[in-house]
Amino acid sequence: MLASFFNTAVARAIAHVPRPLVQKISRRYIAGASIAEAVVRVQALNAQGFTATIDVLGEVTRDLAQAQQTADEYQGVLDAIHHHSLRANISVKPSALGLLLNAQQCETHIAALATAARRHGNFVRMDMEDLQCTQAEIDLLQRLRANGHGNTGLALQAYLKRTYRDIEPLLGRHNNLRLCKGIYVEDKAHLVEGARHDRHAINSHFLHHVERCLDTGTFVAVATHDEALIEQVIAAARRRGGETAPSGLEFQMLLGVCEPLRDRLRDRGYPVRIYVPYGQDWHGYSIRRLKENPQLAGYLLKAALMG
Ligand code: FDA
Repeated sequence: MLASFFNTAVARAIAHVPRPLVQKISRRYIAGASIAEAVVRVQALNAQGFTATIDVLGEVTRDLAQAQQTADEYQGVLDAIHHHSLRANISVKPSALGLLLNAQQCETHIAALATAARRHGNFVRMDMEDLQCTQAEIDLLQRLRANGHGNTGLALQAYLKRTYRDIEPLLGRHNNLRLCKGIYVEDKAHLVEGARHDRHAINSHFLHHVERCLDTGTFVAVATHDEALIEQVIAAARRRGGETAPSGLEFQMLLGVCEPLRDRLRDRGYPVRIYVPYGQDWHGYSIRRLKENPQLAGYLLKAALMG
């Protein structure tokens, strides 16, 4: 109760921390402002045995010109991945490519990215956003795949009840899903029991969806830092595939988060992909990460208060 009160207070206060201080701390979570900085970070991760997925920071776009700019930036990322022989793909937010302004144009942008990615054997992941985007993103994925863009995949959120229905048509040997707990603040009615106040309450649902992927040969990216859940996923995969790391599964974690856990998984032979955000829009992303990590946010607030 006290901890939850503290977390809420920190989350409110963090929005008032001076930007330079947030920027300093955010270096851990964000590769930098430019593609060049993202390349350097990914090269270092690749050298340590991790793959990466690169995200250009920015969410809902104000206009189609901004969506075009984001699409161009991602084309640059695909070129850089190829040019520097990085082991990395891209993660895109459809709303940043105009989903809520003009769904057709958004589809055109993602199809163009998928075409460019396919030339170099690469892949485009769509992040899942808040509930106003859920159905539109599922429809988008299905249209892309029906139109020959098999190198596209989507994220699904285990905190939503509807994921039980949503996942079924997306399962299959040539499909590639990311499962995460879900990050947006949604109405309780849409969430699985207990999800609002207890992140562990999501775990059994998360595991169920991972097992559906394993049982249908769907490639599954398990995006979580929850060690207990990760061990349950490993046990479920082992029950199906023996002792070796299954080829249809990878773990994914955010840059700078739970690094010892990520290193241990790599050392045990599991593939781990790191989500590497970069871009000018670092402030909003940093605030979100800090709200999730009250301890770090607490240090930051203390530093801000003490000048
Ligand atoms: P949980 O919240 O239970 O945390 C487990 C442990 O990890 C806790 O001990 C916690 O302290 C620690 N931890 C978690 N986040 C931390 C942080 N930022 N800093 C420090 N410690 C942290 N969401 C979404 O809605 N759509 C999407 O497309 C994606 N995509 C995505 C990709 C990848 C690669 C990851 C890792 C995550 C996402 N997410 C996402 C976010 C996801 O839904 C979720 O909000 C966060 O991963 C945190 O939840 P965990 O599963 O880690 O568990």
